[in-house]
Amino acid sequence: MTLYGIGLGPGEADLVTVRGKDVLESADVVYSPGRLSRTVALNHVDESKIGDLDFPMTKDEEKLRTAWKEAAAEIAPNARDGDVAFVTLGDPNVYSTFGHLRRTIDAFHPDVDLEIVPGVSAVTAFATAMGVEIEAGAGLSLREAAAGVSPTGPDRMILFKVTDAPATHEGLVEAGYDVTYGRRLFMEQGETIITDDPETIDERDYYTLAYAEKEDLEVEQATAAFETEASDAGSRSATAAEETDD
Ligand SMILES: C[S@@+](CC[C@H](N)C(=O)[O-])C[C@H]1O[C@@H](n2cnc3c(N)ncnc32)[C@H](O)[C@@H]1O
Repeated sequence: MTLYGIGLGPGEADLVTVRGKDVLESADVVYSPGRLSRTVALNHVDESKIGDLDFPMTKDEEKLRTAWKEAAAEIAPNARDGDVAFVTLGDPNVYSTFGHLRRTIDAFHPDVDLEIVPGVSAVTAFATAMGVEIEAGAGLSLREAAAGVSPTGPDRMILFKVTDAPATHEGLVEAGYDVTYGRRLFMEQGETIITDDPETIDERDYYTLAYAEKEDLEVEQATAAFETEASDAGSRSATAAEETDD
């Protein structure tokens, strides 16, 4: 049988894919690494199917390895006897805890079949939520900005884990970026905030990301010319209308 890594999307229950929902409904056990992913999964599975795993909040590598070995030892026998799902918010292959489980299963339980069901990542959800277009041909880099760090370099970046927005903002503005912040995008839990003022989101919330774009970035898209043409045409017809009225 199979261990499925399922991407749940950014947090709203109806942004889980049809395939993800099908697998969740037929899985024998469903594990989640956190409270939020568990809440989303509970829209699609009965609480009795939720498995019990303990994940320590630590950066200590030895403790992390031990915790993932224990998690894999709990999950592997269930994935041999039946179908098991491990859920993560967003996509399982993007900045996700699922990578730890996959590597540990590969190393210690290589006979377990593993399949991934992709999810709507915050990487794509942010564009819609924040009204940003990443045009064909544009570059986009992913970075982490935990604890007030300000990564710089690429023309456009999505920054994850923006836990100290004012401090991150300072470094980004100094390096010549325009920045927009998004908090709790497409999530059922908590208020969605989109802002370019970091002071309004100075309270730490792990579910915060930022989109940073070099302020002198020039975007040359053929159809972008329509915006100027249309506004020119708008002002011409306004003038014409004024003349006719007179
Ligand atoms: C460990 S990464 C997980 C990324 C996830 N696997 C994905 O594909 O979206 C967690 C970070 O993603 C961002 N994030 C994920 N979902 C979000 C959401 N719905 N709204 C805002 N930020 C989100 C936050 O920056 C958070 O700190």
